[in-house]
Amino acid sequence: MSPVVVSGMRPTGRLHLGHYHGVLKNWLRLQNSAECYFFVADWHALTTHYETPGGIAEASWDLLTEWLAVGIDPERATLFLQSWVPQHAELALLLGMLTPLSWLERVPTFKDQQEKLRERDLATYGFLGYPLLMTADILLYGAEEVPVGADQVAHLEISRELARRFNFLYGREADAPARVADAEKRMGKAWTRAYRDLVQRYRTAGDVQAVEEAQALLAEACSLSADDRALLLRELQGRGREILVEPRALLTEAARMPGLDGQKMSKSYGNTIALREDPDSVRQKLRTMPTDPARVRRQDPGDPDKCPVFALHQVYSDAQRREWVVAGCRSAGIGCLECKSPLIDSVLEELAPIRERAEFWAARPAELRDLAKQGAARARRRAEGTLDRVRAAMGLVLGDDHPR
Ligand code: TRP
Ligand code: SF4
Repeated sequence: MSPVVVSGMRPTGRLHLGHYHGVLKNWLRLQNSAECYFFVADWHALTTHYETPGGIAEASWDLLTEWLAVGIDPERATLFLQSWVPQHAELALLLGMLTPLSWLERVPTFKDQQEKLRERDLATYGFLGYPLLMTADILLYGAEEVPVGADQVAHLEISRELARRFNFLYGREADAPARVADAEKRMGKAWTRAYRDLVQRYRTAGDVQAVEEAQALLAEACSLSADDRALLLRELQGRGREILVEPRALLTEAARMPGLDGQKMSKSYGNTIALREDPDSVRQKLRTMPTDPARVRRQDPGDPDKCPVFALHQVYSDAQRREWVVAGCRSAGIGCLECKSPLIDSVLEELAPIRERAEFWAARPAELRDLAKQGAARARRRAEGTLDRVRAAMGLVLGDDHPR
């Protein structure tokens, strides 16, 4: 079975080449090998922009448009708006019951962002709950893998801890102690002693090796069923049945797309090229972008390693062209405009089909809406499966007339 992958983006403005090379190319790869759920995190946008929500709807459609424009395929991946799948909210509410306040308060981004966005009042329940809502987004689909940037790793850690805590609280079967005793009786005294030693080693000494040894030990106890073995292993680790899946971060670090000034490309640095940027503006930005500051005159040799233009060549040029740059720059054989010219062509070539497809979808709002509707319906179906297990585990009455 292919792994389940979930990821979201907040609708906070047009995407740029940094998003494309850093995140979306990963999504494009994943949509071919995994069951993907990609959504517009519009509720997450509200956690910081609740006072000024004006742009969220438009930015949401823009985001979907741009995903389609780069080639995210709604036949392969499920695309939707978070707020159209209220199951995210129900799971967040239920998980909130077992979320220690301290887990949320100690997330580094909580204090950091409050400091950084000081002009906004972020002393809110919603903002504190940001990682909790994100956890619901992920656990709702049983995602094994979550492609995120390094800035989201702390949030993912909360997701893992919450899944574990949930399974510990609700996955422990009431009859587990009796079943363990029964299995031990069947294993006999010597095996039981060996098993209990391993339990001690894991629980008191935190010796992870003990898990593997227990696995080997139990595998050889032929009086045990597969269920017994799984139960004894869970008990050793103090874990419950896996009702919610612990997700893993899929770090998208490799592609740190350089911006026009050599720093990481980011809206806050004002060094971006947007995916839908007008070709004249792209040309203008690249023509005027800074080069090696030591190369003042045309006849001065330069150092590509100190030049933001060369950083872009690393992304867009093959080995041969990079050699041409290095040799020409160091010997002052080529000028900077000459050096930029093939780069400009490559960037324009990359952006042309993206811009074209974006225009296609931008002209078809009704179709886009339909597509988002279908995505949400598919997402809700998958989400309901998880939610039913969660509702039952938490002692709620299930009904066939549960709103779906
Ligand atoms: N917090 C993420 C960001 O700012 C967006 C997001 C919301 C997300 N829910 C998610 C990412 C679930 C991955 C999985 O980038
Ligand atoms: Fe940069 Fe190219 Fe000019 Fe060298 S020739 S300084 S690499 S733009």
